[in-house]
Amino acid sequence: MRQSSLVVIANRLPLDDSAAPDGACEWRRSPGGLASALHAILEQTPATWVGWAGGVGPAPTLPDIGSLRLRPVSLTEEELRGYYEGFANSTLWPLYHDAVQQPTFDRGWWETYRTVNRRFAEAAAQVAEPGAAVWVQDYHLQLVPAMLRELRPDVLIGFFMHVPFPPPELYMQLPRRVELLRGMLGADLVGFQREQAAHNVAQLAKKLLGAVTTRDTITFDDRTVRTGAFPVSIDVTEMRALATRPDVVSQAKQLRHNLGQPKRVLLSVDRLDWTKGIEHRLTAYSELLRDGYVKVRDTVMVQVAVPSRERVESYRGLRDRIEGEVGRINGEFGRVGEPAIHYLNQPFARSQLAALYQTADVMVVTPLRDGMNLVAKEFVAAREDGSGALVLSEFAGAAAELEQAFLVNPHDVDGLKDTLLRAMEADSSDLTARMTAMRRHIAEHDIIAWARAYLRALDHTGRLADRLP
Ligand code: UDP
Ligand code: G6P
Repeated sequence: MRQSSLVVIANRLPLDDSAAPDGACEWRRSPGGLASALHAILEQTPATWVGWAGGVGPAPTLPDIGSLRLRPVSLTEEELRGYYEGFANSTLWPLYHDAVQQPTFDRGWWETYRTVNRRFAEAAAQVAEPGAAVWVQDYHLQLVPAMLRELRPDVLIGFFMHVPFPPPELYMQLPRRVELLRGMLGADLVGFQREQAAHNVAQLAKKLLGAVTTRDTITFDDRTVRTGAFPVSIDVTEMRALATRPDVVSQAKQLRHNLGQPKRVLLSVDRLDWTKGIEHRLTAYSELLRDGYVKVRDTVMVQVAVPSRERVESYRGLRDRIEGEVGRINGEFGRVGEPAIHYLNQPFARSQLAALYQTADVMVVTPLRDGMNLVAKEFVAAREDGSGALVLSEFAGAAAELEQAFLVNPHDVDGLKDTLLRAMEADSSDLTARMTAMRRHIAEHDIIAWARAYLRALDHTGRLADRLP
């Protein structure tokens, strides 16, 4: 088994198998912000990525991506249900996103979650060189840091949580709260999107483990774990290059033409997830149409809702509700050849997204809760001419950085309507000033800066950070 000095473990590999139109197996880039972010830095870095390749049954043989080796971990049908659909996405995901959707506490799922976490830890232990750094990602693998420490006390262990970490009063509902906290705190450095999350963990460690804490350390059982905020970002260079590619620029023009050359295009791009606030947004838009503030003849909305976690009940129900509502809105307000909402339930390639971002006048990103939201940052990076408005939820991690966006509380439908109108009607000098400031921020805080900051904090020698492109 070949070993690496940098090992990343995430539930998903950056490649996913999906059925090609002829039914054959086809590899495509995995959905979501985690895969986008890490793929961008690791493609050119000698490292191994341990993760699930989608599907069930024996692990497939996978090609390397540039200098990145892929080490697949297999899941059985039962594990997929208990670990991924169950504990990760029906217990932790809702609980960590403010319990907007009621978390399910199923005692059977826990054992499967633990078994699968151990498998990931063992796979990483096999491929890590002596003294390697192992970087564990996200809520699916919260037990891995402590398991890995037992298996390989010689390696440096980092953990990064891409989603929010909830306040103690919510976390305390978890039946296995102590084991999960101990699991994560098996790392040398635990990173979050926001400072508040690190504070929440410190409070819990005091309460549940009797730890002694400072602003950025947690000491218990004679070990000190460091914590900190490292807001994740995007590959700004890639998005800017895509946005200026002649074929993408002409695709953007063509899209606008296909949309009937409206005065305004509103765009949303989300995984079809109830955290994304799609239903609230549709309600607001529908009321603007009903009250005559928006007319289909001059304004169109494009909603990309990428299929996600479709076997989980709450996601299926959400899709039915959204599609029913889009149908109702189009039925009520659309005209022949002029729907009010263009709804696309399919994934798009990055170049297509870059074209869509350029086509939009107003990007509407209104999650009820989101760890970061990379789509908001990608939109900003794609606006080479400094035009366009970003409407952004206060409850997305990105709001702490993109302060010049039109910030909004998505739970407040009236406030959302007002903000949409303000963004649609803002004058171009105001928009340029806002966009210029946001573009400056993300240029200085891109994905490489994120990875460097995290890896420097994990390993003070700078050895790891120096390997990044
Ligand atoms: N994305 C994509 N194709 C699509 C829709 C989204 O590649 O059709 C990517 C998008 O560019 C972004 C990521 O998926 O990099 C979504 O990340 P975000 O942080 O916004 O949300 P998440 O899905 O991780 O909750
Ligand atoms: C979020 C999570 C990621 C996850 C992604 C896509 O970004 O933080 O860990 O990979 O959503 O979700 P999925 O369930 O398809 O992996």
